[in-house]
Amino acid sequence: MSDAATLDALFAAARTARARAYAPYSGFTVGAALVTPDGAIHAGCNVENAAYPVGVCAEAGAISAMIANGGRRIAAILVVAGGEGLCTPCGACRQRIREFAGPDTPVYVAGPEGLRRSFTLEELLPASFGPDVLDAARSGA
Ligand code: THU
Repeated sequence: MSDAATLDALFAAARTARARAYAPYSGFTVGAALVTPDGAIHAGCNVENAAYPVGVCAEAGAISAMIANGGRRIAAILVVAGGEGLCTPCGACRQRIREFAGPDTPVYVAGPEGLRRSFTLEELLPASFGPDVLDAARSGA
């Protein structure tokens, strides 16, 4: 799910979502797009709020769109933002991605010009806690 055509489609979807971001407080617009194993793409953007902590990240929006459309698995995810730095997912979003992805799931980080770097989820969130840990505990392992 990480061939060149899929990467192009993820970038296009994330860029479109980013253009719709609501970020009047930070001025930092972010778009995210993910692909599920069946090839469906879901996108989201950051949505800020006058009560600052209530704002939500682009990745959270993309995951909500996936779940609302019946998806349950992230095959790859891409985040796009502006500026010189790398807009890697925040800590909370790494955990959100973890719920629906595996250690080898690619996390692509892009700027307006295109892909900047790719990571695996394991690189961004090593030794992570996830549903499998609860499953193992429930089964008495
Ligand atoms: N933001 C995201 O949407 N995703 C990220 O990966 C990093 C940060 C948003 C949150 C906030 O609206 C703005 O970027 C500045 O932190």
